[in-house]
Amino acid sequence: MRPHSIKFESQVYTTIYPKWKESNPVFKQRILEIKDSNPETTDTVKENTGWHSSYFLHTEYDHFLEIQKFVEGACNFISKKYFGNPLPFDIYNLWAMTYDIGQDTKPHHHFPSCFSAVYFVDVEKNAAPLCFPEGSFIPQNGLLIVFPGSLIHWVPPTEGSRVILSMNLDGDSKEKFKMIRKT
Ligand SMILES: [Fe+2]
Repeated sequence: MRPHSIKFESQVYTTIYPKWKESNPVFKQRILEIKDSNPETTDTVKENTGWHSSYFLHTEYDHFLEIQKFVEGACNFISKKYFGNPLPFDIYNLWAMTYDIGQDTKPHHHFPSCFSAVYFVDVEKNAAPLCFPEGSFIPQNGLLIVFPGSLIHWVPPTEGSRVILSMNLDGDSKEKFKMIRKT
């Protein structure tokens, strides 16, 4: 098996979480509490110079249920509208990260995740963008970015602090199978 480079345009999707103004201060407080009690960074691939929580916050806390539901719904919407498959999507990784000034994330991907998501909880004015090979997104509080897990992305050294939640999601392939088999 060998790879061939073909021209491929990846889609990146964005929306704003409607309840961000009420919810983000609570999310931030909870993330900082988790950080206080788990100060050691948990980054299995050592791509981040900031603090990285466990990859399984969704199994360890109920704190983020409302944004989890919103992101799963957003992926279901993308699947239905842009791919013609109204699949339910489930989060299988949820982690928080904090970036202080100068901290960054090296280029990486989240394969084999179908979709990955970044939700901006609290970002300062000069916070570093989320970069992809063909474009970048300026962070803003309440912004949700969803992208294919195989898409390379990175964060250059930031000039303003950033607090984010990140997620990996997969579609329910059993549901897809049911759709394909008409029996
Ligand atoms: Fe990432």
